[in-house]
Amino acid sequence: MSEPAPAPPPAPRDPLPRLLAWLEDARARGLPEPSAMALATASAEGSPSVRMVLLKHADAAGLVFYTNLESPKAADLRARPEAELCFYWNPPGRQARIHGSVTPVTDAEADAYFASRPYLSRVGAWASAQSRPLPHPLALPGRVAEFTLRFTTSVPRPPHWGGFRLVPDSVEFWEEKPYRLHERVIHRRGPDGWNTTPLYP
Ligand SMILES: Cc1cc2nc3c(=O)[nH]c(=O)nc-3n(C[C@H](O)[C@H](O)[C@H](O)COP(=O)(O)O)c2cc1C
Repeated sequence: MSEPAPAPPPAPRDPLPRLLAWLEDARARGLPEPSAMALATASAEGSPSVRMVLLKHADAAGLVFYTNLESPKAADLRARPEAELCFYWNPPGRQARIHGSVTPVTDAEADAYFASRPYLSRVGAWASAQSRPLPHPLALPGRVAEFTLRFTTSVPRPPHWGGFRLVPDSVEFWEEKPYRLHERVIHRRGPDGWNTTPLYP
């Protein structure tokens, strides 16, 4: 009598390894902005907004992005500290959606990342009053010049600039397959760890 076939390995429940692998694949393919992701937030009144941001760090603690803390997105996140992120990479035709709660990163973390940025990006963080009306076309270069003179060598992190960490409670993977029979699977965080549910496309 032949041996029964071994059971297939269980679907991995923790979504992080697959998310990191997809990000690495997008980088390896040389896609433009492989870490660009749509960030959806809602205001205190529940009005939605979405815009692109760059993922700067991802690990078991969550997904980190940086921004102006006086921007509309930061106001949304203070009022309702939850958000959804959405990546799309093509090729190979993959989407990843990540929903979760959002907390500010620590000052030490923001300082360390800020210090790693190029000089002009650090000056730009001082110069840009993100999402506020630009009074005239030369206002931005004027402020860049002003802060270049103020900070000739070391540029401190502006008090209005920092990061947020999204701690995932659900992660959904979508992968393009022939004839629109796409593969979808959602990972939801439960009291005993992650659960995995395949979905119709
Ligand atoms: C590819 C791409 C990446 C971006 N990355 C960031 C980012 O990491 N942080 C940021 O504050 N804005 C980033 N922006 C600009 C935002 O999309 C947005 O215009 C800005 O943050 C203002 O958003 P708000 O008014 O909703 O706060 C990026 C835009 C694009 C197109």
